[in-house]
Amino acid sequence: MLPFAELHLHLEGTLEPEMVFELAERNRVALPWRDADDLRGRYSYGCLQDFLDLYYANMAVLRTEADFAELTDAYLARAARAGVVRAEVFCDLQAHTARGVPAPVVLSGVADALGRAEADHGVSAGLILTFLRHLPAEDAARSYAEAIATGVDLLGVGLCSSEIGFPAAPFADLYARARADGLHTVAHAGEEGGPDSVWEVLEHLRVERVDHGIRAMSDPELVRHLAERRIPLTVCPLSNVRLRAVGELSAHPLPAMLDAGLVACVNSDDPAYFGGYLDDNIAAVTDAFGLTPDQVATLARNSIEASFLPAADKQRLLSTVPA
Ligand code: ADE
Ligand code: ZN
Repeated sequence: MLPFAELHLHLEGTLEPEMVFELAERNRVALPWRDADDLRGRYSYGCLQDFLDLYYANMAVLRTEADFAELTDAYLARAARAGVVRAEVFCDLQAHTARGVPAPVVLSGVADALGRAEADHGVSAGLILTFLRHLPAEDAARSYAEAIATGVDLLGVGLCSSEIGFPAAPFADLYARARADGLHTVAHAGEEGGPDSVWEVLEHLRVERVDHGIRAMSDPELVRHLAERRIPLTVCPLSNVRLRAVGELSAHPLPAMLDAGLVACVNSDDPAYFGGYLDDNIAAVTDAFGLTPDQVATLARNSIEASFLPAADKQRLLSTVPA
């Protein structure tokens, strides 16, 4: 099995319908769905916002440190089976504190599972704190301060949630602070928004990686910029189909991204909501585009290069991918 780094994964997006019901019962949270199949039957979305509405609603069942640890551990176990050896995962802390779950409960639970990831699952792991761009930047700054106060180790910061109509530029000061604190920086852009949205996170947030970025492909100068600087794009094919960012998988720009020399890698985004984990995404694009073993190996290599692992660890992992 090829070794992959998964770099675009929302922990809350790994909350499977069965776990929604299990946690609802344990935490006495009332749900508007009959059962897990009823809930799963609603996972058809017209756009990003349709999905986000359900995604935030389901988070209501996550209440305790143990809930967050179990969620994270279940993802790591499944990711290891998919060939993931490195996971840099997102946590939407603001979505939890906004409903009264304290930051230390969320982050200690997540960090507990991430701390055991290597020993329990053979996966090295890091945590990226994601800010919600539909909320004011002041909210995000408060959340960042709360996260730092927990003492939990952070690998980086990110930006996600609704893209169109919610500019990234107001988060520039917060990104500068995180950078000064030694953290890595990523941001969602170019999922529903156009190339300007990608330029915005590059110029204002100075991100090291772009999450999605598929709409960069309509701007040749941007593609050149990303390729020359080897700025990675964390692409999520099944997510893009389910959220209608592309009409169908065969129309996905992944092959064009690879042909353009971009450091594009494949990720699962919110696997419980989009019909597949990393291995399912790799299988789907391999099938849709008839990718050769060499092209799949390039995706594995790109994912490792795009990770925030130290150079020596990258070299060690890269040496295990067939040339
Ligand atoms: N939060 C969780 N999944 C997301 C996605 N695909 N785009 C933006 N924000 C998200
Ligand atoms: Zn995402």
